Amino acid sequence: MAGKKVVVVGGKTGIGLGVARAARAAGATVVVASRRVSSAQERPDLEDFVQLSLDLRDEAAVKAAFDTIGPFDHLVVTAAPELGSWGAFMDADMHGVRSYLEGKFLGSWASARHGAPHLRAGGSITFLTGGMAARPKIGFAAVTSAFAAVEALSGSLALELAPIRVNTIRPGFIDTDMWGFLPTEQRDGLRKQVEDTFPARRAGKPQDVGHAALFLMTNPYVTGTVIEVSGGENLVPSVS
Ligand SMILES: NC(=O)c1ccc[n+]([C@@H]2O[C@H](COP(=O)([O-])OP(=O)(O)OC[C@H]3O[C@@H](n4cnc5c(N)ncnc54)[C@H](OP(=O)(O)O)[C@@H]3O)[C@@H](O)[C@H]2O)c1
Repeated sequence: MAGKKVVVVGGKTGIGLGVARAARAAGATVVVASRRVSSAQERPDLEDFVQLSLDLRDEAAVKAAFDTIGPFDHLVVTAAPELGSWGAFMDADMHGVRSYLEGKFLGSWASARHGAPHLRAGGSITFLTGGMAARPKIGFAAVTSAFAAVEALSGSLALELAPIRVNTIRPGFIDTDMWGFLPTEQRDGLRKQVEDTFPARRAGKPQDVGHAALFLMTNPYVTGTVIEVSGGENLVPSVS
């Protein structure tokens, strides 16, 4: 990856940061883009990366960000809006649902649309979904629908943007601050359930996804695929 430039939309936290660190450790220059830009005092751990401000819901801002970045080699889009406060399908506030789909699905779309023209030969795009794409849970119809749409987009683009390679990573439970909305006791309980039941016998880490993302960036013959990085979550009953 030396001499390569990688853009991670959502790369300042959680899974995206795991991807950014894996690409940097492999020798790439890494741009991390999301809404917040932090000072070196606030986030000294981001000093290895170029930070850029970008709001996925603002197509003009997405285009402007990629025009600023210029030519690069690999795009990874991990960003997603916070999980909304909508509940059951029949109770759902359509405004919140629209906002989630706008950020996750159309944000992934816009990143690919405006990033692709800048990708160098041999380039790739990697999207991120989650187990709910294939294993729906009550109360999360918007998330399942957005993830499934991103996976469908991924396959479509593998054909339409070829020879740019386009893939999706579908992680299972990854222990990031995304779960910070849960009370500590509930979060600990969830971790314990994962450790007890997932075949991997531990919670996932951002670097597990980083490892898979690096594989997708560097293997020239993998395109149009969805990779589960879930510790075997797909083989056991739902934990949450
Ligand atoms: N963690 C898990 O167990 C798990 C499992 C399966 C799937 N996933 C999925 O993986 C994705 C990332 O999860 P994570 O754990 O890494 O969560 P996270 O740490 O909360 O990361 C979300 C990132 O998205 C960025 N973001 C949010 N809204 C944005 C916007 N409008 N424009 C640009 N960037 C935006 C945030 O940065 P700013 O605030 O700076 O914008 C943040 O860096 C989500 O789609 C999640 O549903 C997670």
